Order: sequence, then structure tokens, then C-alpha cells
Amino acid sequence: MIIALDGPAASGKGTLARRIAAHHGLSHLDTGLLYRATARALIDAGERLDDEARAIAAARGLALTDFDEDKLRGREMGEAASIVAAIPAVRAALLDMQRAFAARPGGAVLDGRDIGTVISPDADVKIFVTAAPETRANRRALELAGRGEKVEYAAVLDDIRKRDERDSSRSSAPLVKAADAVTLDTTNLDIDAALSAALQIVADKTAGRRA
Ligand code: CDP
Repeated sequence: MIIALDGPAASGKGTLARRIAAHHGLSHLDTGLLYRATARALIDAGERLDDEARAIAAARGLALTDFDEDKLRGREMGEAASIVAAIPAVRAALLDMQRAFAARPGGAVLDGRDIGTVISPDADVKIFVTAAPETRANRRALELAGRGEKVEYAAVLDDIRKRDERDSSRSSAPLVKAADAVTLDTTNLDIDAALSAALQIVADKTAGRRA
């Protein structure tokens, strides 16, 4: 079973994907880490984020074990990831790795922006996770503060709006709901309620497939 979760920044898709995977005993890939790690490799090497050739080389050089989440989850890296993610050849360089992960025996849960539309268009279950920008900014500010990063709510909201705009308007694999995805709005749901709703979507889809 392949489960695809897509949605904007801090919508809750990462936490949901991890919990759905644990519930169903599936592997989980947070595909945002691939773009964050690509950006990080460029920054560490002193390269520009819009240097296409270097960005492609950085993406090709990634291994799924490269992820030091502490170094990748910060605010700056989310913004940097969205810059390299807009380069079509960077996305192409990361395609096979993601498709191979999705094809693991037994299945997988992947979360990102283009899983249901590009990476796994035939996924068994597609969930588009959303929430109001203000709610997402609140969650992200709390998460960053928990990691020891000093942030202003207004600046985080500004980042989120800018990133939504960049991710939705790029030409290659923009953030868009797949036609056959089910929308899950988590604005008024805590994580347990969101998880129940997501598991119900999975159950409904898979029951429909068996019927
Ligand atoms: O956790 P958050 O949603 O803030 O970010 P993320 O999922 O780690 O993604 C960081 C950035 O990577 C996004 O803003 C997108 O530009 C890009 N991304 C993408 O283009 N495609 C994906 N499948 C995953 C992330």
C-alpha cells in the first residue's frame, strides 16, 4: 500500500505521515528532507542556491542516510529548500530515489508537495493536508522555539505565505491537490484528532478497493 500526503508548510503532514506509517507498519519518507539536504549541501560548500549545475550535483550526491535532521529542520533551510526545489532538474535528480522508496515491498508512506501528482500518481491513498496560514504559522513558531530557535510569529507567518506562493506557482511539480486526493483540513484538529481522521480516510479508501 502506498500512501501519499501532500500539503503546504506546517500543515501537519509530516507528523501525520510518521504516525500513519507507524500504525500500518510501513516505511516513511519525508521528501522535504531531500530538498532541505540539497540546499544544505550547497550552503555548506559556499555555493549559490540558484546555481543549477551545482544544485543538480548536490541532489545527485544525496543518499537517504544523509539526513541530520537537527541541521535541516531550521527556518532558514525551509526557505532555501523551496528555492532549490523550484529547479526542474533538481526535482528530476530526486525522482528515482523517491519512486524506489515508494516501491518498497509492503508499501510506504511519503509526504511532500508532489507525491500524489508526480512521484506516485497511482498511490492507493492520497491525502491533501491543509490548515489556515495563521494556524500553520503558530505551529511552526512553537516547533522552532522548541528547537531553541528564536522566532517572531509575524516573521514565520510571512515565511509561510512566501513559501506557499513559491511552491504553488513554480512551473515544475507545483503544490497542487491531486484530483483524486481527499482534503484533510487540520485547522481545528489536534494531532490525535487529525490522525483519527487520516486513518479513517485510509480505511475508507482501502475498503473501497476491496469491495
Ligand atoms: O515542513 P515543511 O512543510 O515546512 O517543509 P518541507 O516539507 O521539509 O519542504 C521544504 C520545501 O521543500 C518546500 O517548501 C518545497 O519547496 C520543497 N518540497 C518540494 O518541492 N517537494 C516535496 N515533495 C517536498 C518538499
